[in-house]
Amino acid sequence: MKIIKTKNYQELSKKVAEIISEQIKVNPKSVLGLATGSTPVGAYKELIKSNLDFSEVRSINLDEYVGLDGSNEQSYRYFMEKNLFEHINIKKENTYVPNGKGENLQKECEGYEEKLSELGGVDLQLLGIGLNGHIGFNEPDKIFGKNTHVVDLDESTLEANARFFDSIEEVPKQAITMGIKSIMQAKKILLVVNIPEKIKILEKAIYGDITPEVPASVLQLHQDVIVVYCEE
Ligand code: PGA
Repeated sequence: MKIIKTKNYQELSKKVAEIISEQIKVNPKSVLGLATGSTPVGAYKELIKSNLDFSEVRSINLDEYVGLDGSNEQSYRYFMEKNLFEHINIKKENTYVPNGKGENLQKECEGYEEKLSELGGVDLQLLGIGLNGHIGFNEPDKIFGKNTHVVDLDESTLEANARFFDSIEEVPKQAITMGIKSIMQAKKILLVVNIPEKIKILEKAIYGDITPEVPASVLQLHQDVIVVYCEE
């Protein structure tokens, strides 16, 4: 595991964008595993500024709220469009986000796994971490080994994400998420942590016991992980 500490969020965003850019330059047809939330916004801005060629890049996102479709401003599809896709030359048909409005969510999850293997797996997976150690929406659990699945969100996740909604009642209670198993199959993983409140859980994840109670701790078993973090 390679650990990079940056001075501040701006430097962190530049570093993350640089790692993603390198990946695309080495392989213009890269499959990027992308994330939403506040952490990657700065890196996405840097990528937009870079004018990098995304015309052959494929992207697949970690998760989506159940019950929201892509036109809903709180959906992760909408987030990706507004914060990245609309500003770069990626082809819309090469971008994948789970369909939270799918009629049969089980089928949706299976289809997402099929898509992952059709794409030949993820070359570079971008991850944030939750205050409870979650990656994607893989909440603390008794086991690690799941593929894409529907998850009931933890109370702490609902509270953390309420800041994006008018009230906590509006936060969807479920999501579709790539599982730990799907995430661990990525060739390279980039874990990004940008707020002081998360440093404790980051330390637990990278130096503590490997346990599904701290989902991110599984990353210790992956052979190619870069952690980029800052404390302010
Ligand atoms: P954040 O969330 O980027 O909005 O802080 C990350 C996460 O909960 O995985």
